[in-house]
Amino acid sequence: MKTEVFDFKENCIDLDVFSEASKYIKTGGLVAIPTETVYGLAADGLNPAAIRRIFEVKNRPMDNPLILHVGKIEDVYILAKDIKEEDIKILEKLWPGPLTVVLKKKDIVPIEVSAGLDTVAIRIPQNEITRKFIEICETPLAAPSANTSSKPSPTNVKDTLEDMNGKIEAIIDGGECNIGIESTVLDLTSDTPTILRPGFYTKEDLEKYWDRVDLELSLKKDGEIPKSPGQKYKHYAPDADVLILIGDEYNFRKEVTKIINEKSDKKIGLMVFDEDGKFEVSDTLYMGSSSDLSEMGRRIFKSFRDLDKRKVDLIVVHGVESEGYGLSIMNRLKKSASGNIKYLGGN
Ligand code: TXA
Ligand code: MG
Repeated sequence: MKTEVFDFKENCIDLDVFSEASKYIKTGGLVAIPTETVYGLAADGLNPAAIRRIFEVKNRPMDNPLILHVGKIEDVYILAKDIKEEDIKILEKLWPGPLTVVLKKKDIVPIEVSAGLDTVAIRIPQNEITRKFIEICETPLAAPSANTSSKPSPTNVKDTLEDMNGKIEAIIDGGECNIGIESTVLDLTSDTPTILRPGFYTKEDLEKYWDRVDLELSLKKDGEIPKSPGQKYKHYAPDADVLILIGDEYNFRKEVTKIINEKSDKKIGLMVFDEDGKFEVSDTLYMGSSSDLSEMGRRIFKSFRDLDKRKVDLIVVHGVESEGYGLSIMNRLKKSASGNIKYLGGN
């Protein structure tokens, strides 16, 4: 199969091209779509056969439910029930945006989307191109991140095609994603809204809207089984081994030097902050300043893929404290490293 690329980088919305791309969705095909978080692999969210193809192409475990992407808030009522009026009022402020909410599902949602749960995850993405595309498709789009399962999520067309070229009908090129990690997943079916997957919106951000927001137990305590099915799988992992080091610049540099000396037979890649300075390792990628983690968020997945292309054996990442946006970043990093993490102190 040839994967067709529709170029929307310049943000010029050409309705003819959109309707051509939407034909693939309407006939049960798969189209990768840009969002502000990561690229998604979209299918008609009400067509079970099309949804099953998402699972096949990604090699995704069938018990991991999908997010339905809609274009406007009224569509939430078509898919979900028992929605609290006050929650909708808040969502009107936070959407479109990098927030997914879990609600009680209506029967119209196929079992393939909810993976047998009685809930459905819904989000309105910020990307205008994608919202327009959803409107033209006239159906909610089921869309997980557009990577092969367990690989880092793609944040641009090149990385999406690395996993999906020849396996899907088309991709809409909307340029680089500006957030770079997936949406915050918030369960609104429990008494207190509960974060199942941390993302762009932190607990502190959401507490400006809801009186109280909980973090799901597995996000507070290592070793607990997560409530969100997707959180229990190996995830975001490059081919290379990943080691996370947490500590100040001095201790980080000292430990990296030790590792370079001890593992002189290995090709090492580094993901560091600007403040960490220069290293005698040619495969060193900078994640911006440690005082503003948004740049690190934007670059994590792309950097993993870049370092895999450079064929490094081990990626050493300068990790951060698990608080604020750092919790979302460390959630991704810890999974990519399968728990290979060392605390150096000094912070
Ligand atoms: O930013 C994003 O959320 C991206 C873009 C494309 O929108 N999508 C994304 O989808 O990250 P995916 O499938 O890679 O991750 C969805 C997460 C999984 O951890 C899944 O288990 C969880 O949401 N999820 C989906 N439906 C759920 C439900 N009904 N209850 C609990 N968790 C759910
Ligand atoms: Mg994913």
